[in-house]
Amino acid sequence: MKTMNHIALLSLGLGFCMTPARAQDTGPSATGNERSPLQVAQRGPGGGGPRGGRSGGSGFQSAPLAKDEAEKKILDALEEMSRGGLGMSAPRDDARLLRLLVESSGAKHAVELGTFRGYSSIWMCLGLRTTGGRLTTFEIDKGNAATSRQNFQRAGVESLVTLIEGDAHQEVSRLKEPIDLVFIDADKEGYLDYLNKLLPMVRPGGLIVAHNINASMADPAYIKAITTHANLETLFINAGNDGISVSMKKR
Ligand SMILES: C[S@@+](CC[C@H](N)C(=O)[O-])C[C@H]1O[C@@H](n2cnc3c(N)ncnc32)[C@H](O)[C@@H]1O
Repeated sequence: MKTMNHIALLSLGLGFCMTPARAQDTGPSATGNERSPLQVAQRGPGGGGPRGGRSGGSGFQSAPLAKDEAEKKILDALEEMSRGGLGMSAPRDDARLLRLLVESSGAKHAVELGTFRGYSSIWMCLGLRTTGGRLTTFEIDKGNAATSRQNFQRAGVESLVTLIEGDAHQEVSRLKEPIDLVFIDADKEGYLDYLNKLLPMVRPGGLIVAHNINASMADPAYIKAITTHANLETLFINAGNDGISVSMKKR
């Protein structure tokens, strides 16, 4: 471990980065030669891993790896979706962070404001299928809702998702069950209203994640609310470069 850290630091110093996903690639090769436990990758503008991800601020990047066939089917569907361009969808690593938060927190009920084509929804489903949870996602545009439904089928996650069509500012009143994680990614000026309406439904210890929290897009009123509310612990993250806030509702 010490050696790996040493190699990583040395490589960063030389202007290169390691690919952690290859850290498993240890042991002797078929030819009997020792292989390096880490593969050195050129640091490029925005990274660009095997699935086209960006490296965030660290210079390191990792590619999603399927543990089994079920995960592979979903990752393949996500890869297919990203081939024509992700458009308004969250960058891959922002969406991966959602999966990580959903799965590690054992979330049973995630709520998303702004489905678009279902890209971030499907990433959350990767976590929800292992926690026994489900997603409620809101989309105002009929065409986007229809495309999302097709994508949920393609990924095989349709049984985990309830898609509610309409203006989420009104439609969230249909939510009756406690929420473990909220992902806010719809109209940027509406974030504070979503927070005010949904925070009472978030269970203690639950998370409110907001996307596009950067200088040009974030609503200052939302930033003020999540940084001055004594019942929230908030951090700002730059996973895929668009900017994310993660706020935990204190217990
Ligand atoms: C940035 S996209 C969502 C991307 C998606 N979360 C992803 O990462 O794959 C924003 C979406 O919010 C939807 N939207 C905007 N205002 C809305 C509202 N008031 N209620 C519900 N959806 C809304 C838009 O139609 C659009 O599809």
